[in-house]
Amino acid sequence: MRVAVIGAGVIGLSTALCIYDRYHLTVQPLEIEVYADQFTPHTTSDGAAGLWQPYIYEKGNTRETLWSKETFDYMLEHMNAPEAQEMGLFLLSGYNLVTQPVPDPSWKDIVLGFRNLTQKELELFPGYSYGWYNTAPMLEGRTYLPWLTNRLKMRGVKFFHRKINSFQELMTQGVDVIINCTGVRAGELQPDPELHPGRGQVIKAEAPWVKHFIITHDFESGIYNTPYIVPGSRLVTLGGTFQLGNWNIENNVRDHQNIWQGCCQLLPSIQKAKIVDKWTGLRPARSKVRLQREVIRHGHLEAEVIHNYGHGGFGITIHWGCAMEAARLFGGILEDRKLSKPPRANL
Ligand code: FAD
Ligand code: BEZ
Repeated sequence: MRVAVIGAGVIGLSTALCIYDRYHLTVQPLEIEVYADQFTPHTTSDGAAGLWQPYIYEKGNTRETLWSKETFDYMLEHMNAPEAQEMGLFLLSGYNLVTQPVPDPSWKDIVLGFRNLTQKELELFPGYSYGWYNTAPMLEGRTYLPWLTNRLKMRGVKFFHRKINSFQELMTQGVDVIINCTGVRAGELQPDPELHPGRGQVIKAEAPWVKHFIITHDFESGIYNTPYIVPGSRLVTLGGTFQLGNWNIENNVRDHQNIWQGCCQLLPSIQKAKIVDKWTGLRPARSKVRLQREVIRHGHLEAEVIHNYGHGGFGITIHWGCAMEAARLFGGILEDRKLSKPPRANL
């Protein structure tokens, strides 16, 4: 069976790995190919801060909360393994700040040590009168994507640096199943009025004294449109913007100034940070992740497509749960084609 994964961000690579590991003994041969026109370190997933944190409220997306929890558990399982460092995985604690009391976030029982901020802690952040403290995993794309790529190459998965212009292009080449992990550009292959870019500009800076994440929220401005500071293994990510519908990947001077001023106000020692890079990425914003099977026909040809895109500002946070769900959908295709026994219940 030939499987083509389109996309080499965190979603495409993890989905390819999950499908290979679950089914290479059941389906032989299982040939997996990854097609992408951008590879690490040039994907959106490479620029992400890498913090495990879903949006504050799930708004009925209970499946997404489950996939994020599965990803949290996967990260925690690997935390004490020797490969954690090679993966770019570590734990980070920090603050979420708001200007007035609001209900607890949907993920309060998933993260470690969730609690309300004390008055003394709030005094550290003038202008904020409420918030939470917790610990969560960090998984840095710039390290994790090469780690995933190596694992896939060791398993014989082939990589092609190529833009795919249509699903039909792969069908005519004999591909049986297409896994669509094209992120914000999924609309180029099949129109999707629900998918929009959520433009995010950030500054990457050296500030090794910053040991906690600090994320501010203003529900009127929208998610990640207010200052945030997330320290990584080498650089601190300073944000942020979330501009819905803006496709521009050029860095904008005014956004840069706003981010810098906002972060310096939030944590005055940032004034001493050395700016190393400026980066803009497009979050694949959607009311909910598209994770479903679809049969595509082209003349007498027929192929199954599994869509896995639309992970907004939480692609790292949710990726492994989505990869496992995509693998379950793949198992369903095998069953329908009488190629496999039902997948194990613990998938
Ligand atoms: P991408 O990483 O964009 O990968 C898409 C892939 O598809 C690329 O390889 C591309 O080349 C390929 N592709 C697309 N179309 C085609 C085609 N037609 N032919 C061939 N190849 C194609 N999330 C978190 O969980 N935690 C964070 O801390 C976090 N911080 C963020 C900070 C910023 C500033 C931004 C912008 C995002 C952040 N995110 C974060 C969100 C996260 O980056 C995204 O949700 C995630 O990267 C989406 O992954 P993806 O694999 O779907 O897309
Ligand atoms: C972002 O999308 O900008 C983001 C996501 C999670 C943590 C920090 C920033």
